[in-house]
Amino acid sequence: MIEFPPGFLWGAATAAHQVEGSNVNSDLWVLEHVQPTLFAEPSLDACDHYHRFRDDIRLLASLGLNTYRFSIEWARIEPERHHFSLAELDHYRRMMATCHEHGILPMVTFYHFSSPRWFAASGGWEKKSNADLFVRYCERAASHFGDLIGMASTFNEPNLPMQLRWISNVDISITTVLRSSRQAAKALGGSCGCFFLGDAFKLQDTMIAAHHRARAALKSGPGEFPVGVNVSLQDEQAVGPKSKRDKKCAEVYDPWLAAAAQSDFLGVQAYTRCRVGKGGDLPPEAGVELTQMGYEFWPEALEPCLRYAAGRVQVPIYVTENGISTEDDTRRIDYIRKALHGMHNCLASGIDVRGYIHWSLFDNFEWIFGYRPKFGLVAVNRQTQERLIKPSAHYLGAIARGNGIPEL
Ligand code: BGC
Repeated sequence: MIEFPPGFLWGAATAAHQVEGSNVNSDLWVLEHVQPTLFAEPSLDACDHYHRFRDDIRLLASLGLNTYRFSIEWARIEPERHHFSLAELDHYRRMMATCHEHGILPMVTFYHFSSPRWFAASGGWEKKSNADLFVRYCERAASHFGDLIGMASTFNEPNLPMQLRWISNVDISITTVLRSSRQAAKALGGSCGCFFLGDAFKLQDTMIAAHHRARAALKSGPGEFPVGVNVSLQDEQAVGPKSKRDKKCAEVYDPWLAAAAQSDFLGVQAYTRCRVGKGGDLPPEAGVELTQMGYEFWPEALEPCLRYAAGRVQVPIYVTENGISTEDDTRRIDYIRKALHGMHNCLASGIDVRGYIHWSLFDNFEWIFGYRPKFGLVAVNRQTQERLIKPSAHYLGAIARGNGIPEL
């Protein structure tokens, strides 16, 4: 048995827009419904997790996991600027209480890609002064349920727009991006300040400032919980000279790792490797197995990502996302096993890793790709909303129960 330290967190993650359903007041709902749209299909009911969270949290606990990472939806909590919904704040309070009833630690993300329509219309993250709006939302939300939060993250992958600047092999027409943002701006009655589409540099400045201020607000109580940020990492492998790869890392990862270094923890989110050549990101290497997302099956990525992060932060690290999109659940089991071995190597060399949260609990709405990619430990029947537990869920659950990986 390969053992993990006592108290290690084992969990699965979701994000509100991807699982709740009917997130009609968010900017992404608008983007899903304009013509032309960047989205393969709209999110609609998603996994109806908004109504089914009690059964879903019970299910997660029954698997043997001890942590549930989920996000709260700003567009529901503050449907109009300065107007907060007590009913929605109560909803998330009930979710956290349900976690505690089942011995599950609620790991709460305050922002996972989606914004209220009014926030996007007013310029979104590109507008510096909008940081105030986010800080106030965090303050108001935490004053309602801070006593029940286990751990909190301000942002999920705020470095994604910067990472997207490097990707050369995504098949999206720039004309569609422009036309759909124009339509969305019209529908929103302002600008289209959506997170996915903003200017990465402007966005980064506003969000780093917002992170530090929101963290300070969350730390002032009620409740006492660590506050961090979840950063998207890839195992960046230089092909040829290292300078381009190093430039990419300095641009995409280091500013947010520096922000995490001044927080209570860092969430590492890693899925694959990326080969970086003279001109930028290279396509997958011929002969390497691909996932449904079109990127390489590369569970070995987790270890170098953790090592890279640990070289830049002294705070505890949690793996807050790691997973694979596949219809073949035996590949998911293999992926988890390999990724966990890499994570264990990090622990053995003294890196302070404290938890592993798998992406995702459910097959869910994978943003512009719709429902086709299957990242879940649990499948969801799209007609009946029935949950179907996959063998990988039992595999990870058994590891969580034993706090170790059985030797092959
Ligand atoms: C995001 C998730 C997403 C996952 C798989 C991460 O970038 O945080 O929302 O579903 O990767 O693509």
